[in-house]
Amino acid sequence: MTTTPYWVAGAPRSGAEVLEVTSPHDGAVAGRTSLATPEDVEAAVAAAHQARAACAATPAHVRAAALDHVSRRLSERTEEIARLITAESGKPVKWARLEVARAVSTFRWGAEEARRWSGTLQRLDTDPAATGRMALVRRAPRGPVLGIAPFNFPLNLVAHKVAPAIAVGAPIVLKPAPATPLTALLLGEILAETGLPAGAWSVLPVTNEVAAELVRDERLPVVSFTGSVPVGWSIRESVPRKHVTLELGGNAAVVVAPDQDEQALTYAASRIATFAMYQAGQSCISVQRVYAHRDVAATLADRVVEAVQKLATGEPTDDATDVGPLIDEAAARRVESWVDEAVAAGATLLTGGIRSGAAYAPTVLTDVPPTAKVTREEVFGPVVVLDVVDSLDEAFGRVNDSRFGLQAGVFTRDLQVAFRAARDLEVGGVVIGDVPSFRADQMPYGGVKDSGTGREGVHAAMEDLTEERVLVLTGIDL
Ligand code: SIN
Repeated sequence: MTTTPYWVAGAPRSGAEVLEVTSPHDGAVAGRTSLATPEDVEAAVAAAHQARAACAATPAHVRAAALDHVSRRLSERTEEIARLITAESGKPVKWARLEVARAVSTFRWGAEEARRWSGTLQRLDTDPAATGRMALVRRAPRGPVLGIAPFNFPLNLVAHKVAPAIAVGAPIVLKPAPATPLTALLLGEILAETGLPAGAWSVLPVTNEVAAELVRDERLPVVSFTGSVPVGWSIRESVPRKHVTLELGGNAAVVVAPDQDEQALTYAASRIATFAMYQAGQSCISVQRVYAHRDVAATLADRVVEAVQKLATGEPTDDATDVGPLIDEAAARRVESWVDEAVAAGATLLTGGIRSGAAYAPTVLTDVPPTAKVTREEVFGPVVVLDVVDSLDEAFGRVNDSRFGLQAGVFTRDLQVAFRAARDLEVGGVVIGDVPSFRADQMPYGGVKDSGTGREGVHAAMEDLTEERVLVLTGIDL
């Protein structure tokens, strides 16, 4: 088996310390790469620093063409990339294909936004002192970006770091997740086919200690981090003068209103079952808590359990598999211990609750004490907690009784309830008529409270990576 190179300023490199990447499903070797050497890490950062002016000055058509190229090549190589995602992360191949399709669209949006990225004209002659003046307000890159990506979307959450950086002309040094570097390195292969300036991008598998040094490096003034809550906030606290964007965890909730008829309840149950368990619950917006109105709660619970029991588990490379393993056995053991703890405290297990290696059976719980970790913390596993409420006020209060606030879903047909949810729920996004797990890659995405700060979604991230720069023109006859 060959050793996949990492990328330093657009060029392939290899180090002496080999990293073997294995599938959490069966331990099969997915591929090999190597840890970036200290010299290569330094070269990547120096090149990003040096390339900042050239990247910012790259014409929009060059940036857009590069992004379109990546989008097209990802599409052409979908099956190969999906199988790589599955091999290194254990994600069922049908979800991996969807991830590639989303990344195709993330890069395509990057190209479109790069073409539109223009700025605004502001008239200043609203006061006598500024007669004959106007301002051109454009956004300039804050500087080279350090992107730190998680394992749960080895391609698309990397795309959400790389595409906006290229679109605004900011160099990026990307650190993929230690468990899933191979997909990001394959993306490097495609980026190397573009005509972006040298230094515009690097992909470096490094240890967390080296990543901490990169966080402190003043030549990388922007840090865009997706990952765990404690690591994210400690990064932000360690570099208060840097611009830090954090996409962190959540314990996403669904509210089911009493206006849901039989058909709507069946739909809600199937969406809850699918999106509590997809990727073995390893999404920051997978459904973790459900607050159903008493009028519909029993029917909903029966249908959720029925839908969960129909999910196919096991071999991730099989097209029919819905739920594969967690990222490693330690993660599955943690989920198991949280479920066991809830059951010991009085929760009822409606289905699931069984672990085998890194796999944990799709699990539905009810009567869970409000203090249990499966409710209060981010499970990041295939577990959903069903709860009964007597009013929408109570449901919204329960959703907000959390230190997290990423997205929430509300199943209702009532527009008044929809607007109330948007106003009252303390989250970055409310999805009406579906689960909180819905995400379109062009929409602003991010959380409040412990769930993070800043927004991704291609345009929103482009704003985040840049700051306004004003050009005042004098002597203009308006
Ligand atoms: C995440 O886990 O935060 C990303 C979810 C998604 O992109 O669907």
